[in-house]
Amino acid sequence: MKEFQSQRIGYGEDAHALGAGRPLIIGGITIPDSPHGPVAHSDGDVLFHALADALLSAFALGDIGLYFPPSQAEFKGLDSLVIIERVWQLLLEQVSDFSVVNLAAVITLDQPKLGPQRSVIQANVAELLNLPLDRVGIGFKTSEGLSPQHIQARVSVLLRGHLRG
Ligand code: C5P
Ligand code: MG
Repeated sequence: MKEFQSQRIGYGEDAHALGAGRPLIIGGITIPDSPHGPVAHSDGDVLFHALADALLSAFALGDIGLYFPPSQAEFKGLDSLVIIERVWQLLLEQVSDFSVVNLAAVITLDQPKLGPQRSVIQANVAELLNLPLDRVGIGFKTSEGLSPQHIQARVSVLLRGHLRG
């Protein structure tokens, strides 16, 4: 029973409009030959942004807008890896015995096909969170043509730890 008392579900989402000629970066990986990429203040990495929100939500620590206001010029073009690193640091400070059990993510995007990049995205996220590959599930869906100019990430995580009181 004690084991379950320390478990927390976290969930996060992020979406962006897509613009022609912009780089498409997902989970820290630049997708080759994409006709478009997110229109965003930062590098527009929806997977990292949704992951950061998922991590924060598990311990009710708000969301990334609280720590990285999009209005601040400092965050223009910010590498999303920096966001994850700062969120990770915050969790280490606020949560004792902090660990990640597993992660499940879905990216919704019509074009390009992401399947060929699945293993490289999975490996990058696994290395970042210090997880084995079988604890990092990455799925892709199209919008069935309903939102061709749109990208969305949804991420759930299972975490363990106790908020320091
Ligand atoms: O959305 P739909 O069910 O038609 O997607 C079918 C499959 O296409 C997905 O299960 C996924 O493996 C793949 N896919 C992909 N890249 C995308 C969207 C979907 O590889 N951008
Ligand atoms: Mg389908």
